[in-house]
Order: sequence, then C-alpha cells, then structure tokens
Amino acid sequence: MSAEANPAPPLEPAALAITWQDDRHPLRVAEMDLAHREFVELVNALANCPDREFAERFKSLMNHTRAHFAAEEELMMKSGFPALGEHAGEHKRVIDELSQFGRGLNRGRVFLARSYVQSGLPEWFSLHLATMDAALAAHLNAVRASGVQVELTRNTLPVL
Ligand SMILES: [Fe+2]
Ligand SMILES: [Fe+2]
Repeated sequence: MSAEANPAPPLEPAALAITWQDDRHPLRVAEMDLAHREFVELVNALANCPDREFAERFKSLMNHTRAHFAAEEELMMKSGFPALGEHAGEHKRVIDELSQFGRGLNRGRVFLARSYVQSGLPEWFSLHLATMDAALAAHLNAVRASGVQVELTRNTLPVL
C-alpha cells in the first residue's frame, strides 16, 4: 500500500500535564501566582518536548523551581510564617527529587524523568498548592491586610 493511500493520522494535540484552573489555582498573592503559572507552562512544555530538548528544558524547570521556592521562603521569613520549617522542608524534598532525575538524565534516562514530569510532579504541585502554598497565601494576605509590608527584595523570580 502506498503512503498516499494510507496517510499517517494527524498528530493528537499533546496532553497537558497540568491544566491551569482559574477557579482553583490562583492564591491571590501576585508573586506566587506568577511563579505558579510559569511553573505550569514549563512543566507542560517539558512533558511534551522532543527527547533531544528534554535535558535543557529540565534544567530550566529546576532553576525556575529553585527561584520559586526561594521567593516563597523569603516571603515566609519576612512575614513570620509559623510553618516555615515544614514548608521549606517540603521544598527541599522536591528539589532533591528533581536533582535525582537530573542525574538520571545525565546518564540518558529521559523516560523516567519524563514520566515524573507528566504525572508525579503535577500531582505534587496540585496538592502542595492546595495545602502549604494556600496556607502561606492566606497568612500573607492577612499580614498585608493589617498594613505590614512584605516584599521580595531579591529578584528571585526568573524571567522565562
Ligand atoms: Fe509555590
Ligand atoms: Fe511552596
């Protein structure tokens, strides 16, 4: 059968690892919402990119995630957030996990890292956002509403 008689089916649009939901994901803290939107974009692009681009994009996601977590930790310190230790500990755990997949990528293990980016990482993000990040956002909004200024001094959020 010729290729013309049996054309390849059109490619399916790539499935998103995370879909940003306006009714669920915004936490009403501008710095956090911006980092989270960017995180979602980076994860989705990484989940669907060709293998040859994966390691480079994974590195960008790691850098962005480090900055995202550092910014939240700075906001926690400056606002006297009581659960700083627990929240920062969870950030560290995820950075360690990403680093482990990064080391696997150096040995050519794209498949394992991609499946983490497609399912494990999005699941973690949804839960972390709804629990620890939501608690931080509520605390920050209350502190700011009382008139206390809490600002990031470092330019911790990277530009994509
Ligand atoms: Fe966050
Ligand atoms: Fe967080």
